[in-house]
Amino acid sequence: MGSVGLTGEFIASYGGEASKPASLDELLRRLDRGDFDLVGIGRALLQDPQWAVKVHEGRTGELMDFDRSAMMSLS
Ligand SMILES: Cc1cc2nc3c(=O)[nH]c(=O)nc-3n(C[C@H](O)[C@H](O)[C@H](O)COP(=O)(O)O)c2cc1C
Repeated sequence: MGSVGLTGEFIASYGGEASKPASLDELLRRLDRGDFDLVGIGRALLQDPQWAVKVHEGRTGELMDFDRSAMMSLS
């Protein structure tokens, strides 16, 4: 759990750091190897509710950068 699909970490988001979409290749390799029972996606989904659909359809070029304002809209 943590920072899947984004270049920056969750804690840094509070400092205002933006993140870009990261490669999922290593995650997929480790998933296939059975390293994880569950993978959680947080900020990427807050930013882009279509994240899972885009990944499922191989549209990774359409994934959005994460901006701190996506967390602020929850309050
Ligand atoms: C709005 C929001 C609230 C969160 N609240 C908590 C929390 O109360 N406790 C905690 O351990 N992690 C919390 N997290 C961190 C997530 O559990 C997760 O570790 C983190 O978001 C990294 O995943 P991500 O890179 O996919 O966002 C929160 C994350 C977000 C976006």
